[in-house]
Formats: sequence, structure tokens, C-alpha cells
Amino acid sequence: MAGANNMEKKLAEFKCDTNEAVCLKLIRFPEDVDDDGTTFHPEYSHQIFGDDEVAFGYKGLQIQLFYTAGSLTTLYKVKYSSKVTDTFDCVEPDNIDGKIREIVPAGFICNTDDFITLLEKEANFRPFGTLLHVYTVHNDEAGELTYQIHKADLSCSGFREYHERLQTFLMWFIETASFIDPDDDRWDFFLVFEKYNKDGETLYATIGYMTVYNYYAYPDKTRPRVSQMLILPPFQGEGHGAQLLEAVHRFYSSVPKVQDITAEDPSESYVKLRDYVLVKLCQGLSSFAEDKLHQGLSAEMVEEAQMKLKINKKHARRVYEILRLRVTDMSDEEKSRAYRLAVKKRLFGPYRKNQRELTKMTKCLRLEEVVSQLGQMDTQMQHEELEKSYQVVLQDYRRIIERLASQA
Ligand SMILES: CC(C)(COP(=O)(O)OP(=O)(O)OC[C@H]1O[C@@H](n2cnc3c(N)ncnc32)[C@H](O)[C@@H]1OP(=O)(O)O)[C@@H](O)C(=O)NCCC(=O)NCCS
Repeated sequence: MAGANNMEKKLAEFKCDTNEAVCLKLIRFPEDVDDDGTTFHPEYSHQIFGDDEVAFGYKGLQIQLFYTAGSLTTLYKVKYSSKVTDTFDCVEPDNIDGKIREIVPAGFICNTDDFITLLEKEANFRPFGTLLHVYTVHNDEAGELTYQIHKADLSCSGFREYHERLQTFLMWFIETASFIDPDDDRWDFFLVFEKYNKDGETLYATIGYMTVYNYYAYPDKTRPRVSQMLILPPFQGEGHGAQLLEAVHRFYSSVPKVQDITAEDPSESYVKLRDYVLVKLCQGLSSFAEDKLHQGLSAEMVEEAQMKLKINKKHARRVYEILRLRVTDMSDEEKSRAYRLAVKKRLFGPYRKNQRELTKMTKCLRLEEVVSQLGQMDTQMQHEELEKSYQVVLQDYRRIIERLASQA
């Protein structure tokens, strides 16, 4: 028994957290290679290493994936201080290399000197596709930085290979990521680049991207659906996500055959970002004027948001709720109550559906009395849940209003 415990202890020493072991870098200058300060790690690695996000068989495991900042030419290395040997009966180390090669496309480099030589070629790298939007961001250290948003497709020379390298990041930062089939010509790609200076020359670094699939909408329209969106972690929280989403909305708003824009299985952070961007776009529309907001969501709002900005009804409703909150005096009991009721009416939708299903069930089981008791308990719980949901919504909306005010 003691022997088995010792063995377990020893084996545990050879387990590594893969979110820690994977080391990512975006390299602009040769000295970045050895600068630990520029390393970032995945948020997720379960899609490659399994639900436990653990690799077995190595001590001090480091899986280095270093990318040149613009073209994303990749340096790949696996390092460790020791590896299980056959002294551990029947226990094989995980095949790290096999797993990494499943996501990292061929053409990577394994030698640092070769990688540094290729880094010099970054000066020739230019953003793919057509320029949609330029913006600047003030950075305390670097001053005014300039960014460009481009729309690209597979006809751009070298884009296919570049996209294969770019999408490897999805696996580390989106919980349920999947690679797309870029050969389908209904995909649109939107890319963000930063212009930076190196030895007096202007170079371009990849900051993030979005893929959008153009679905057909009856009878002669399309409905672009945002599939994946990623701002690379070193650049998150600087406003690039909002710039990208706004540029994409403005682009599709100018395409007559677009019905509206949707998103595939949106994450919480994406929904927050979208709320902010859509409110920013809608706040100047006449149907969302202050006096109209207090009268409730109108057909005019829905129509204007759809016609001018390709926003669908569900999203227009959220925009209206946020803009109405902005002009509502919540310290006034009557106004605050009217607002709460308006939002709760929407939030109540799923609960009402549950209630209908429960009623149907009670009829089938012929246990009306028992279940009606249960139903009453359920109503109390629903009331509490509803209030909780309302408070969360309110908090999110207030955050968006603050962000709008800070950008004004
Ligand atoms: C979700 C995601 C796309 C957002 O992109 P982003 O560039 O970080 O977004 P923004 O910078 O515009 O906004 C993010 C936050 O930074 C804040 N921010 C933006 N600019 C800022 C600035 N100059 N100073 C301080 N904060 C700022 C915003 O207020 C916002 O805060 P909030 O979330 O509390 O409202 C990005 O975080 C990401 O790629 N995440 C991983 C993948 C993912 O979840 N994708 C979406 C689903 S596919």
C-alpha cells in the first residue's frame, strides 16, 4: 500500500498544468525572444489536452509557441527538465508533439536562429485585403498608436496560410473553438493591425480578427453571422474589440442585401461588447430620442435600427433598455418602477415558457393539487430569480453607460 502511495506521489510530480506549460509570444524585436515579460498563457487548453488540462510524463514542461508579430511565422519548441522513463511500469508520457501538430500548421520553425533571421523579413509583411477603417489609441508609454482594420478573403496571396496560423490562437482563448473551412466563399474575414516603427521603417503587427459567415435569408437577403472574434490577449481591454465590431457593423450596414447581423453562440463578453457598440451606433437615431424612450420600445425604433444599422429586433430591444436607463432618474420611485417593469417583462419570457410547460405536465400526471403547490413554490423562486437577473442586467447596463460617458 505504501509502495502504491509512493508511486502515485512520484507520478504526480510528472503532471503539468497545460495552461501554464504553453508559452505564447508575439515577437517584434529579437530581444523579445528571451524576455519573459512578453509571455502569455492560454485560458483554455482542454480541447488539446483533455478536460483536466494536464499533460503527463514531464517535469518543468514548457511548450513554446512564438509568433512573429505580423505574419505569425511560428517558432515551436518543447522543453522539460525530465521525462518519465520505463522505471514507471506501463506509464507512457503524453505525446505532446502529436497534439501540438494537430493544431499548428506545417511550416513552423524549430531553431531560434532561423526564426530571428525570418523576423527580419517582417518588414515586407503588409496587411491583407482592403482597408476599411483607421483609428488611433493613446498609449502612455508609446504615445499615439495607429491601427487599421482590413477586410480580407482567400483571394489575397498568402492569406490562407496566415489564417491557418492565426486560428491556432482560438484553441487557447475560446472555450468551444473550432477551425473553419475557409474554402467556403461565404466567409468574410476582418483583421486588425497595428502600425509600429522598427529601425525607421513602418511594420504591421496582428492584433485580432473576426470571421463572419454570410447565411442566406429568405427571399433575397443575407444574414451575416459573427462566428469567431479574438483580440490577442496582450491587446485586450484597449478598445480594439469595440473598434472591430463597429467597423464590421458599418461595413454590412452599407450592403443593401444584408437583412441583419447575428452571432453564433455568443459569449457573455461578446454580448457586453455588442451592447456597447450598438448603443453607440443607435444613440444618434431619431427614434431613440429621449422623449420617445420613456414611451417604451416602438416599431419605429426596431425599423430604424434594422434599416440603417442592420440590427435585429432582439438587439434593438437591449439598446432601447440601455438608452432608456441612461435618461431615467432611478432615484424617482415611480420612474424606476416603470423601468424595472419594462425590463422584467422581457426577462420574464423564459419563465413564462417554463410555467406553461409545468402546467402541461400537471395535466398529464393528474396530480393537480400536489403540483399546484409545487407551482406556487416555483413562482416564489422565479420571482427571486427574476429580481437577481434584473440586478445583473442593471449592473451590465450601467457599466456600458459609464463606458459611453468616458468616451464622449
Ligand atoms: C471579447 C473580446 C473580443 C473583447 O475585445 P477587447 O478588445 O478586449 O474589447 P474592448 O477593449 O473594446 O472592451 C473590453 C473592456 O475593456 C475596457 N476598455 C476598452 N478600452 C479601454 C481603455 N482605453 N482603458 C480602460 N479600459 C478600456 C472596456 O470598457 C471593456 O470593459 P468591460 O468589459 O468592463 O465593459 C476579447 O476580450 C477577446 O478576444 N476575448 C477572448 C475571445 C472571446 O471571448 N471572443 C468572443 C466570443 S467568440
